[in-house]
Amino acid sequence: TEKIGVRNKYVILRLDLNVPIINKKIQDYTRIDLSLPLIKSLRNKRAKIIILSHLGRPKGKADQKLSLKPIFDYLKKRLKSKIFFHTEEITRKTKQKITFLKGGEIMLFENVRFNKGETNDSNYFAKNLASLGDIYVNDAFSCSHRKQASIHKITHFLTFKYGGPLLRKEVEAIDKIINSRRSPVTCIIGGSKISTKINVLRNLISKVDNIFIVGAMANNFLKFNGIRVGKSLIEKNTKIIIEKIYTISKKNNCTIFIPIDYKTSNNLGGNATSKGLESIKNNEMILDIGKQTIKKIDNIIEKSKTVLWNGPAGYFENDNFLEGTLSIAKKISGSTIKNNLISIVGGGDTLFAINKSRKKFRFTHLSTAGGAFLEFLEGKDLPGLNVLK
Ligand code: 3PG
Repeated sequence: TEKIGVRNKYVILRLDLNVPIINKKIQDYTRIDLSLPLIKSLRNKRAKIIILSHLGRPKGKADQKLSLKPIFDYLKKRLKSKIFFHTEEITRKTKQKITFLKGGEIMLFENVRFNKGETNDSNYFAKNLASLGDIYVNDAFSCSHRKQASIHKITHFLTFKYGGPLLRKEVEAIDKIINSRRSPVTCIIGGSKISTKINVLRNLISKVDNIFIVGAMANNFLKFNGIRVGKSLIEKNTKIIIEKIYTISKKNNCTIFIPIDYKTSNNLGGNATSKGLESIKNNEMILDIGKQTIKKIDNIIEKSKTVLWNGPAGYFENDNFLEGTLSIAKKISGSTIKNNLISIVGGGDTLFAINKSRKKFRFTHLSTAGGAFLEFLEGKDLPGLNVLK
């Protein structure tokens, strides 16, 4: 590892502080807590620390619901160092406004996606970002699959650009697991970020033996198979891609599984009703997998040697629909301990759901990344990784 001095240098830290926040209250601190050791170490070395992160998906303009303010308050409490919050838009004049920063002090910038140039990887914006620092550290493996200015283009304008310790740990752990994976390999995919995952699914088919689709993702497959899903969350125009997924999976001997029963309600905050196939009414929505599905997943995990899991199985924010996700966590954890199962579990929401239960689980690797972890598994070059030293 190259040794570089950071004392009194401006170090830009791209972190993933994209944590779940409800009514300005942080629901899960994992991603922030994992970033603290690096911030503290740079602070102790008297670097001038510039922190960049996104939160949610604002459309290139300020949206107070997606402000990093709650994260700023938490960092202030945890770090007990001088920390400032920069809320103005980032322009070419921003650098002049932060020259007062002393070694060991921290400047957290407001949600970087409030700036138009971030998500379209703008040259101009990336240049402005890069002008804020002497050294760039990407410790956000979980967003390194995004070709966005603070992850990708910024590196074009800086000589000193590195991967941080968390990023390296994730890459090394996932790499090791890919290389040592044993068949049968099962992939459990859930969550609701459908459009981003459906392509990943397509590419994973040739690499795994089973794919079990749960969460809101599964609704599209149920509908495709002629099953009524009432007012469940559905994405438009997925017919062709699902057709392709089934065709490719047949060719590659990969079995696709979908839920066979569910828990439903007519509103997100409601109580759960157990339902079998074909009995969903128009005013109901599927919010979790049912007991038979849990049993089926347990059986598949039991027969697998490697399991990759990303994305919750239900609307875990309501405890009435947390059971599916926790059952999967429990089974994978148990098999990791008892049967030497190789397991990787990942995703912001998955972490949140698991932590909600306050139970201790054991996995071969618990990743903070969701989409990035899946794309890395596919063997894709992540735009944020190959630009680093
Ligand atoms: C995540 O939660 O997976 C990362 O923070 C990336 O977020 P994004 O999918 O909105 O780019």
